[in-house]
Amino acid sequence: MTDLTPLELPALYPRQRAAIYAPERYSLIEASTKCGKTMGCMVWLLDHAWTHGQPGRNYWWVAPIFDQAAIAFKRIRLGLQVTPAPPEINLTSRTIELPNGATLWFKSGDKPDSLYGEDVYAAVIDEASRVKEESFYAVRSTLTHTRGPIRIIGNVKGRKNWAYQLARKAEAGEPGMSYHKLTAWDAVAGGVLDAREIEDAQRALPEAVFRELYLAEPSDDGGNPFGASAIAGCLAPLSPDPPVCWGVDLAKSIDYTVAVALDARGRVCRFERWRSPWQETLQKIQHLVGRTRAAVDSTGVGDPIVEALQRAGTGGIHGVKFTSTSKQQLMEGLALLIQHRKIAFPDGPIRAELDVFEYEYTRTGVRYAAPAGQHDDCVCALALAVSILPRATQPPMFSMKLKNL
Ligand SMILES: Nc1ncnc2c1ncn2[C@@H]1O[C@H](COP(=O)(O)OP(=O)(O)OP(=O)(O)O)[C@@H](O)[C@H]1O
Ligand SMILES: [Mg+2]
Repeated sequence: MTDLTPLELPALYPRQRAAIYAPERYSLIEASTKCGKTMGCMVWLLDHAWTHGQPGRNYWWVAPIFDQAAIAFKRIRLGLQVTPAPPEINLTSRTIELPNGATLWFKSGDKPDSLYGEDVYAAVIDEASRVKEESFYAVRSTLTHTRGPIRIIGNVKGRKNWAYQLARKAEAGEPGMSYHKLTAWDAVAGGVLDAREIEDAQRALPEAVFRELYLAEPSDDGGNPFGASAIAGCLAPLSPDPPVCWGVDLAKSIDYTVAVALDARGRVCRFERWRSPWQETLQKIQHLVGRTRAAVDSTGVGDPIVEALQRAGTGGIHGVKFTSTSKQQLMEGLALLIQHRKIAFPDGPIRAELDVFEYEYTRTGVRYAAPAGQHDDCVCALALAVSILPRATQPPMFSMKLKNL
């Protein structure tokens, strides 16, 4: 083994260090976004490879997809300064060979079959709740011969995933496993996050999203931004009162056009869902909406329909283009009203779509959508109607968000 001077590593804050450097072979860490998961585990893996590495010993970094593994690869590659001889870096195989002969590998958990076969001396699974279960089995098999340690870390994402299940075992005291939770407040105490940033996120995000992302508390609903009990709390029969506003989601290729009307108290009083040629759809919307205010989805093929409705001069037709930002704002507005029980809707298709609706945290923000293969046109129509509901019905925070639409 080459004699190496001690590696100079960035200091981890106490709770970050306690979680990642836990003495147990397994450490399961459920953590807030931006609390130092990747950085802390990079330090740990590098430290391990530097201290215990020998020629032929492999150290693995596994992330859900290649691009995420590439971020850790780049961060270590650019941060590592070794003198006199720099480490050997292979950009194609994404490996870093240290002067002691140990090799760091940066791998995607996307193809479990590609993860079998090596002997691995220590491993990190980053963003574990998004890594395939089969990939965890594969990584675990590579540590069998070496009895190498593993750090399994990530944001929480509902309860229906292997990382959640394994964390519960660790929390229950399974031998050889330790369990830790790092919240955004721990990162604030550690000087890595700013408290004002967390407070702002708490104001801006639906409660379930904030609790998962910043407090590492998994939701019951597997990432439903509205919350199953809040949805159930808003159920009421169709209101007999007249509409004060409409939301219309226009059919794209295979789904329905949905029109939802709210009364002055925010209760759904009309609900229509149909599939028909554009000319009929146009006439039907004119007939339904009359002179009442309506927010109509003007994304893509919706644009000419909205223009035709406006030309017909029926009333206050607002075209709303769905972008990831506008959809996020609409859904967060809807989530706030549902959580405050400020709207009501009948059991049936609206409730069913709300129940399965999901959010996903991505690098660019929170993405809201129906699960693959399912519809979200009732949810969109409801969110559009809610976006033009007169202010008296809305909690104060939502009125502020409305300005940005
Ligand atoms: N102990 C520390 N001391 C100083 N800065 C730190 C520490 N830990 C993390 N950071 C910094 O905090 C920022 C977020 O860290 P990192 O990317 O590791 O967080 P993360 O939890 O992996 O975030 P994400 O949710 O995006 O995956 C980075 O700029 C990182 O350099
Ligand atoms: Mg990270």
